[in-house]
Amino acid sequence: MLPVSRAIPKIPSITNTARHFFSKSNTMSTTRTYKLNSGAEIPAVGLGTWQSQPGQVEKAVEAALRAGYTHIDTAYAYGNEKEVGQGIKASGVPREKIWLTTKLDNDWHKHVAEAIDTSLKNLDTPYVDLYLMHWPASLDKENPKQVYNDWDFVDTWREMQKLVDTGKVKNIGVSNFGVKNLEKLLNAESTKIVPAVNQIELHPGNPSPNLVKYCASKGIHCTGYSPLGSSDSPLYKNETLAKIAESKGKTIQQVLLQWGVSKGWSVLPKSVTEERIKANFDLDGWSLTDEDIAQIDKIHETSSFKVCGHDWLPVKIFFGAGDSD
Ligand SMILES: NC(=O)c1ccc[n+]([C@@H]2O[C@H](COP(=O)([O-])OP(=O)(O)OC[C@H]3O[C@@H](n4cnc5c(N)ncnc54)[C@H](OP(=O)(O)O)[C@@H]3O)[C@@H](O)[C@H]2O)c1
Repeated sequence: MLPVSRAIPKIPSITNTARHFFSKSNTMSTTRTYKLNSGAEIPAVGLGTWQSQPGQVEKAVEAALRAGYTHIDTAYAYGNEKEVGQGIKASGVPREKIWLTTKLDNDWHKHVAEAIDTSLKNLDTPYVDLYLMHWPASLDKENPKQVYNDWDFVDTWREMQKLVDTGKVKNIGVSNFGVKNLEKLLNAESTKIVPAVNQIELHPGNPSPNLVKYCASKGIHCTGYSPLGSSDSPLYKNETLAKIAESKGKTIQQVLLQWGVSKGWSVLPKSVTEERIKANFDLDGWSLTDEDIAQIDKIHETSSFKVCGHDWLPVKIFFGAGDSD
């Protein structure tokens, strides 16, 4: 096969869509899309659903779609795919107008075909727009406290690639991959498809510039998870963000989301509160200046934190310095 570096689609690291955005006149974040290496366009703002409690998810998804969101992020591991599917139905928004992402759970790595069928059944949809390997962690289904010794994420990706021709997934990607694991994946002989997306933790406390740059150089779009800093976010007390928000007449949450979209990644704010869901989508008609962005870029120097580590997994995921920043 071709070395992966030659097989990677020749796309610029900043797509035309993103370049268009960077011209000062475009202040429409909610309708912005980013072009993936597959040719598909992922909407810049999606509703997150991790930790959304049962009984709340359906309403949150419905409220988001009614407010204009066109992108919903879920995962088998969140245990809420059924409710997400119900929220989509309740919204009345046609399926083809929605970008739906779900994720392969760690103990399903040897059962990819079965896993996608289960998720599609839960979601009550014939396809997902994006299927992500949730973590580069192939856990033994019989004993999820252990990794397989005859299978790793390269094998899982080999199986995920087969899904594209089935029509059950429009795009495939990864999540929580640092540079080291991406290198291993891209250099594997069985890797024929470069992941369209790497969904990673991205907020001013964890901006991961090296990883974002690496992904761009390989034509991999980054989606930022925990863009608000997750539950009880320390960012809500940050003075730099408070000053910028005040000067714009916006909230800190809106500034955080605008910053992410301005940096060129899609963002997944989670909320189960209707007013917040709507407010988080109020990103049009205003923008951050280069100076605002530069100030936010520096926040991690004094307030660095990560929401999702790897201590709960029996395998190391993040390798420090420059790998996942
Ligand atoms: N791939 C992965 O491994 C991975 C890991 C983590 C997250 N994710 C995805 O990324 C999504 C977002 O990340 P996250 O859930 O960690 O956190 P987040 O979106 O950064 O923050 C969510 C928290 O902020 C609150 N909130 C939302 N909007 C607000 C507003 N306008 N004002 C005040 N508070 C607000 C929410 O409360 P209420 O809900 O109570 O309103 C919730 O407590 C997840 O839901 C999931 O879809 C993926």
